Amino acid sequence: MKEFKIQPIKNGTVIDHIDSGKALKVIKILGIDENVSSVVSVVMHVQSSKKTYKDIVKVEDRELNPKELDKIALIAPNATINIIRDYEVVKKTKVHPPERVKGIVRCANPNCITNSRTALDTMEPVEPEFIVESVKPMRLRCVYCERELENPEEHLI
Ligand code: CTP
Ligand code: ZN
Repeated sequence: MKEFKIQPIKNGTVIDHIDSGKALKVIKILGIDENVSSVVSVVMHVQSSKKTYKDIVKVEDRELNPKELDKIALIAPNATINIIRDYEVVKKTKVHPPERVKGIVRCANPNCITNSRTALDTMEPVEPEFIVESVKPMRLRCVYCERELENPEEHLI
């Protein structure tokens, strides 16, 4: 029999196969805080296979936008996105980290043009952009200063 750790939902999005321990980061990416207006369920450290564990986040009555999906792909590259309508999974997709990410993480180099005060004050701000050099482990390189960004999940915008 299929075991549900938490109840199935009627409508919304289930983010499944999140790397164990990352659920709270996913919650943050979705901007879920004390002002949340839909039901959100979080399961952490549920057994996924014999040796692996996963987290699951279920957000009722909401679908995710492309920017949110790109951010989730950066911190949980194994995640699947299940769209639920009337209790059925109507769409299942794996997140796929894009080849380039624009405007979702900030460069850690304080001298990078994307962090430049003068640039911010006097011209159009330069939107941070990175090339995704590898996914496992996640390696991002700044298009502007070419510095590799350590721990991209700490620099989400
Ligand atoms: N789910 C849910 N509410 C529903 C239907 C499904 O919360 N009404 C959840 C399930 O608990 C599961 C995820 O959505 O976490 C995907 O459901 P399903 O495709 O039925 O499960 P699996 O076949 O196990 O998915 P996968 O093959 O992607 O592991
Ligand atoms: Zn940079």
